[in-house]
Parts: sequence; C-alpha cells; structure tokens
Amino acid sequence: MIDVVGIGDGGEAELSPQSRALVMGARTLLGGRRHLDLVPDVPGQTRRPWPSPLREGLAALLAEVHAADAPIGHVVALASGDPLRSGIGTTLIDLLGAGAVRVHPGLSSETLARARMGWSAEQTTVVTLVGRSPDGVRRHLAPGAHLVVLCSDGNTPGVLARLLTQQGWGASLMTAWWHLGGAAEGSLRASAAGWSAERTADLVLVCVEVSAVSASASPSTAAAVGPAPGRPEASFEHDGQISKRDVRASALAHLRPTPGGHLWDLGAGSGAVGIEWALAAPGASVSAVERNAARAERIRSNAREFGVVSDVTVVESASIDALADLPDPDAVFVGGGLSPALIDAVRSRLRPGGRLVAHAVTLSTEALLVGAQERFGGELTRISIERATSLGEHVSWTPSRAVVQWSSTKGMP
Ligand SMILES: C[S@@+](CC[C@H](N)C(=O)[O-])C[C@H]1O[C@@H](n2cnc3c(N)ncnc32)[C@H](O)[C@@H]1O
Repeated sequence: MIDVVGIGDGGEAELSPQSRALVMGARTLLGGRRHLDLVPDVPGQTRRPWPSPLREGLAALLAEVHAADAPIGHVVALASGDPLRSGIGTTLIDLLGAGAVRVHPGLSSETLARARMGWSAEQTTVVTLVGRSPDGVRRHLAPGAHLVVLCSDGNTPGVLARLLTQQGWGASLMTAWWHLGGAAEGSLRASAAGWSAERTADLVLVCVEVSAVSASASPSTAAAVGPAPGRPEASFEHDGQISKRDVRASALAHLRPTPGGHLWDLGAGSGAVGIEWALAAPGASVSAVERNAARAERIRSNAREFGVVSDVTVVESASIDALADLPDPDAVFVGGGLSPALIDAVRSRLRPGGRLVAHAVTLSTEALLVGAQERFGGELTRISIERATSLGEHVSWTPSRAVVQWSSTKGMP
C-alpha cells in the first residue's frame, strides 16, 4: 500500500492534520525534489526522489521500498495538489492498481486558479500541456471558452500566446498564475497578441478567456471552430482523397464517438474522419490505416495540427493486413479498400453494439454494400452533394460524385 498526499506550494504547514500525520510519520517519503524540500527533516525518515526518467525507474524504486505490500502509512508519496490531475497518483495506480494506492488530495492548482478568477468548475475546461505539444489546446478553442492550461514550464505561456495569435485568437485574454498558494505567488495578464513576457516562473498555469476568432484568421480556422464534426476540407492537408465535410459529418453521426472509444479508420486518406472522431470525445482514439506512404505522413501532420497526435496511431499498410495487430474497435469506418473479406474480418472484431460505416463511390463497391446490407441489415443511404460555384459570370450547382453509405450496428437488425 502506498499513500499519496497532495501538497501545495504553501508546503507542509498547510496540509490537513491527517495528511500531515501521514507525511511526518512515513518511514519512506517519495517525491520530486521540490516537494521533498517543502517538508522539514524527520529523524529516521528515508527520502527518495523520483527517478529520471520516471516511468522507466519507478517499478524498481517501488520494489525497493516494497510499496505494494508496505503497511498503511509506511511509504508515502508527495504529489502536487490533486495527485490525480496530471499527477503521480495516476501513474502509481496504473502501475500498482487502485487497491494498492490511497489518495489524499490537496487543493489543485486548477481550483486555486478558478478561485482567483471567479470561474465556476462548470464553465471551465482544464487542459494539460505538461510534457505535451501546445497544439493540444486547439481542440478547445471556441468563442467564450474558459480554459485553465497547465504548463510544462515558464516557456509555455509565451508559446501559447504565439499559437493563439497565429490561429486567429489573439484577442483572447491570458492570465498566467505562478506559485499559486505559495509565498512567491504572482500573475500577469494581457491579450495573447499583446503578450510580451518571454518566460515566467516554471510552476505556472494560464487562464484563457477565449475571444471570438478574428476576422483576419484564415477561412478554414474560422469555419473549423467548435466541437461539431464536418470541418471544411481546407482545414486538413490533403491531395483530394478526403471526404466532403457534409458526407463526413454524416459518417460521424452514424459512428457516434464515445469517451474512450476506439475507431478503425480504414483507407484513412487525409485522416479527417479519424481526427474528427478523436476530437469529438475525451479519450477517443484511432487506428488510421493507409497504404500510401505520402498520405500516411499527411495523416500524422494533420493529427499534429489538430492536437490529437497522441490519440491517432497511423499504420502504413493495406487494411486487411493490418487488422490482426489493432486493438478491438468500438466503431469502424471504411473509406476505401472495401472487399467481402474486409467486411467479415471487421465484423468479427467489432464489439457488440459497435458501429460500422462504409462508403462507396464506384458501382462495384456499391454492389458490395448492397450485398452487405442484405446479409447484415443496417441502413443504406445515397448522399449527393452539390455546391454553388461560379460559372463564368454566373453561379451554378456543381455536383460531387454521389456516395453510397452503409451504416450498421453489430447485434442490431
Ligand atoms: C503535472 S501538473 C500537476 C497538477 C497538480 N496535480 C494539481 O492538482 O495542481 C503540473 C502543472 O500544474 C500547474 N501547477 C501546479 N501547482 C501550481 C501552482 N502552485 N501554481 C501554478 N501552477 C501550478 C502548473 O501548470 C504545473 O506545471
């Protein structure tokens, strides 16, 4: 058993009596250097800083101090604030299981920041950029959003300000807060476009009040705002192999992204369907299978741009050859490379209640979908999109190829 105690920048004096007794009574105290330094010396207590790199060395350190089978209170780990918010508590539970870890939360930095700003928990989204690409903030940018952004270090506020400004959100108000709850607490407030501080203290987060997107933002940024799928084609890099936004929105409506759900995006092209799945629900992930190397690279780059690179695994392969190595899916989208064998293989791996959506534009794949609907049920829909475009001095309808969509749910007629 390991006890994990959340401690703030105010140090040991501000711990609850129960947490303080645990920390002062521990035989072994684990923690980052900064946290260990916040606790006065206790005679006979062993102090062990986290290993670096953490993940690689953690199991050995815990085995050494017998954390899993230690009596309650013998091994105590210090974490900052809420140990389950981007914290060591989550890592320890992953490693030892929830039954072997007792968590004693302190006030999280997010709670302190909201208290300073007067923001309710209900209106606020917490985004962590700790050890992650700043692009992770992009999915949360919508007019009126209130974000608490946890930062890797004192460079992050400046990087964030540049990213917001480049993306057309330069009027957003940023308030950086450092050492919240400690003697060195301080803050700085400016618009993203007017942000001049190159660096702040390293223990910092930023509260962002997201403005309306500026008129000078690129049309694709302005049109891609908000969480709904069906972002314009121009917001993705592509070579023409991309589903039209209206058709893609329909596919996503049938795929129904769920928190933590896994999608197979087979014949992923630009990756747009998979990326919109990943953007639609927290923890949603994608295996994007694409056999063309240039397109596979483009999917990676699009996923990076949308801040979902860690949620999208690109597999460069023909779809049928890739399936054996993929985790079981909650939903499957087939945008290309359809065959009877692929349909059977996909259905055998889909979880009960899983959704399968396939698109066809040629007569032969359309025939496959008609056959599949006869065998397995589901809905067949033909989607024809026409867009008004200029024709000389006039405007006229330009039709795209009609798409036949088969959508079915495993276990449902
Ligand atoms: C790994 S996360 C840990 C969050 C922590 N578990 C919590 O509940 O506050 C570290 C990041 O949290 C933020 N943070 C933690 N304590 C802070 C404080 N006292 N003042 C400002 N930011 C803080 C910073 O963005 C820091 O880089």
